[in-house]
Amino acid sequence: MPTSHPSGWAHADGALKAPPWLRQPGDPNHLVPLLWPLTAEKVDGVLHVGGAAVPDVVAEVNTPAYLLDEDDFRTRARTFRDAFADFDVYYAGKAFLCTTLAGWVQEEGLFLDVCTDGELSVALRAGVDPARIGFHGNNKSYAELRRAVAAGVGRIIVDSFHEVDRLVQITEGRAGEPVAVMVRVTAGVEAHTHEYIATAHEDQKFGFSITGGDALEAVRRISAAPGLDLRGLHSHIGSQIFDSSGFEVAARRVLALHAQVAEEVGTAMPELDLGGGFGIAYTTQDDPADPAQLATEMAKIVDHECRALGVERPRLSIEPGRAIVGPSMCTVYTVGTVKEVELDGGARRTYVSVDGGMSDNIRTALYDADYSCTLASRHSDAPPVLSRVVGKHCEAGDIVVKDEFLPGDLAPGDLLAVPGTGAYCWSMASNYNHLLRPPVVAVREGEVRVLVRRETEDDLLATDMGAHA
Ligand code: LLP
Repeated sequence: MPTSHPSGWAHADGALKAPPWLRQPGDPNHLVPLLWPLTAEKVDGVLHVGGAAVPDVVAEVNTPAYLLDEDDFRTRARTFRDAFADFDVYYAGKAFLCTTLAGWVQEEGLFLDVCTDGELSVALRAGVDPARIGFHGNNKSYAELRRAVAAGVGRIIVDSFHEVDRLVQITEGRAGEPVAVMVRVTAGVEAHTHEYIATAHEDQKFGFSITGGDALEAVRRISAAPGLDLRGLHSHIGSQIFDSSGFEVAARRVLALHAQVAEEVGTAMPELDLGGGFGIAYTTQDDPADPAQLATEMAKIVDHECRALGVERPRLSIEPGRAIVGPSMCTVYTVGTVKEVELDGGARRTYVSVDGGMSDNIRTALYDADYSCTLASRHSDAPPVLSRVVGKHCEAGDIVVKDEFLPGDLAPGDLLAVPGTGAYCWSMASNYNHLLRPPVVAVREGEVRVLVRRETEDDLLATDMGAHA
């Protein structure tokens, strides 16, 4: 959260300074391609995505709106599938999920990871083959597990002894194939962005501890249950990761347990999942790894460890969410007001208010995330001004883009577009201050298709019983 006193680099000696990583662009009209969907381009200053001019799309669907470049999404999905050809690739639906997109995931040959009953509903309603669904979550209820088993979900990733007990009970005496189960383990590795931390103990809610012995105990109990088929271990070390070093430490620890299970329990587990977490570029600070390079490195690590341990290499899987859908979307807003604010020390900051905010992108407020943005509706010759893009919520921390150089003539009615909003924006959206959740609009070869419509006032009041009295 921003501090109430904006001290530090921002206005250290009277003049508002950009953060060290943000360079003043020669021409603020230009796009930085790495940050945008593959089809994004500026034509005479006007942003085009999926072959459509953004102002034309806005004329149809209004703002704020998430624009989804279908070709970009499909290309990234395919790139992961091809790069990780020896792996099963599960798209992590928590990043963004709707029925149409779940269909694309299946069409592109990916599996689907869901982590709640709600996400499972979307997948099943979309007609995704249940055998290609993995079901996650650290608190799966008896009812959720029963539904997942009845639906024929391909694998359930268990996260606690309570879940093991529930599954044993649900499958006792059940006819048919045993239910495929993986054990989520805590590898003692926590990865964030460019760093990872390897510790002996992990103070977090997910998984069974390897070092504490719980993971081995979970494996024993599942192996002893005739209704369950233990497929393998599962490790997810974090999100927005840029290199393979964290995966390497985790894979080593998890494979040591994998080998121990073969030796002590006598169960040769055929699979291993190394989770998701592959990073994307939100700003020019970020330098994501190429999926093919990650795939090669991860496979090499696993091969090396398996040889050293004398075990067969299990079938590997991964679960990328952000890296597939994150760059596929941008959010388009309309500028409502522009204001210069004098800070302590005399520096002035330009605040640009848009018609959305923390209800459609909570990541800036919640994680102090950095974003970028561009003027989407016209070319401007005005000199760039360091600006802060804020929303319309009654909260000072309602910031969308903390720092960006925007044309100095920005005015009400201009359109701004923020790239990299495909993951964890719509999926974490809220109705704070009774704002309506924006639509998700697919664009492809100039065609505009609403995948999720904008909420209406009736949606907003649908559960307010007094409104229907
Ligand atoms: N698999 C498991 C078991 C996970 O818990 C997650 C993310 C993923 C896969 C997908 O991770 P990805 O490839 O998308 O990084 N709301 C946060 C991110 C939370 C991630 C939770 N788990 C954010 O906006 O940064």
